[in-house]
Amino acid sequence: MTLLTSPATAPRVPIPAKGVDYRGTVVLAPMVRSGELPSRLLALKYGADLVWGPETIDRSLIGSVRRVNPRNGTIEFTRMPSNSGRNDKPPKESVLYRIDPVREQGKLIFQMGTANPDLAVQCAKVVAADVAGIDVNSGCPKPFSTSGGMGAALLRTPDKLVSILESLVREVGEPFRIGISVKIRILETPELTEALVSRLVKTGITGLTVHCRTTPMRPRERAIRDQLRMVAGICNRAGVAIVMNGDVTSRDDALASMTEYGVDGAMIATAAEANSSCFRSEAEGGLLPWREVVHEYMRFCLESENRWGNTKYLLNMLIPGKNKEFNAAKQCKTYTDCCRQLAFDDLIPLAVRADEILDLADKWVLGPGEEHESKAKAVQNAMQSESARAAGGSGGRLKQNSPATHTGGPIRTSSIPEPASKAAKSDADFEPLAIDVSMQATQKPELTA
Ligand SMILES: Cc1cc2nc3c(=O)[nH]c(=O)nc-3n(C[C@H](O)[C@H](O)[C@H](O)COP(=O)(O)O)c2cc1C
Repeated sequence: MTLLTSPATAPRVPIPAKGVDYRGTVVLAPMVRSGELPSRLLALKYGADLVWGPETIDRSLIGSVRRVNPRNGTIEFTRMPSNSGRNDKPPKESVLYRIDPVREQGKLIFQMGTANPDLAVQCAKVVAADVAGIDVNSGCPKPFSTSGGMGAALLRTPDKLVSILESLVREVGEPFRIGISVKIRILETPELTEALVSRLVKTGITGLTVHCRTTPMRPRERAIRDQLRMVAGICNRAGVAIVMNGDVTSRDDALASMTEYGVDGAMIATAAEANSSCFRSEAEGGLLPWREVVHEYMRFCLESENRWGNTKYLLNMLIPGKNKEFNAAKQCKTYTDCCRQLAFDDLIPLAVRADEILDLADKWVLGPGEEHESKAKAVQNAMQSESARAAGGSGGRLKQNSPATHTGGPIRTSSIPEPASKAAKSDADFEPLAIDVSMQATQKPELTA
């Protein structure tokens, strides 16, 4: 067994004033598509200590506009599409990245895809004031990433990776007083991994995540943890926090593995994608039933004005495939219809509002045999349903299934403040939200980095 430097004598790369220490944390992994704002808020609600945003390609964010959404206080980075496609409709801004400055404060790590120190710095400066750290993706094995020299390709070009990290530390980490980190995969042999990590820890980074799979390994293949203690030893001696990743399934599993392998933190991806309540310890009640998790996810989507296509994608992950609600939810084209199908009556007023904002209201449908519903009628029905629910009634025709019940233990909410702004503004403040085409290059099925 590799001897680790004792914590009492170990050096530490100083954590900048606005940065975060990855030590002692169980965190949500960066996930394209699955790591948008609602999923991150869900993970935080259930106890994730930190959340990584989905990989964003440097060029996609450079030149974007930062604005605060007046309805919910979220920070949106937007741009006009270069080609709006349809001439009959005015082009809409695309929301590339969305941050909740209150609930994610001090907890959000922005991850970028880059192969160029200058572009990396330019991109990082766009978001640096709004996040707690910047992470470089050096593990994505997909051709769209590696063909541009990004992701796992950087494992083969260590000079470039070192140069990117040093530039980020000097030009972004220091002035903005946040940490810079990197996420890598293990290489084929311990010697190769050791040589790489030994260089990376000297760049001034505060943290390193190691995904315990090699680049050619598929997500279903079991993670290899043989090299973990060796990597932990190098990071520990250099004072860089090390986070393990690969097949970590829950908070309890994470804490046990951190002790077993001598690492500082653990990162969860697919287990959290399936059910974010994996961040709750067994003592806190452990995994919650899917209905409760989906209800909370839906609420965060509505509050965040999340793009419907993205919400639907995640619902497919969160609702167990054999469940009868699965197909019904899959058919829905609007938030309102989906909330009806899932009998989330309490969310319908919010859903109606979100559909209006996202220009989905013309797709509303009613039950079997009924024609398209007018917007006014839909709103009226939703309001009546909500009033009935508030009065203890059944919610009328919308009641199809039992409402979500809290069957688990207490949720760790102490670190979760209220939304940035819950104050609803008048309808005149509503701006149509653009289709989210963020990370077009990266949003492909079966993404694994
Ligand atoms: C849907 C999906 C999207 C992912 N996107 C990213 C990404 O944007 N950046 C990244 O570094 N890794 C990405 N990954 C890889 C995960 O962060 C993680 O390294 C990998 O899934 C192993 O963790 P696990 O065994 O807990 O799933 C993605 C994985 C999945 C399943």
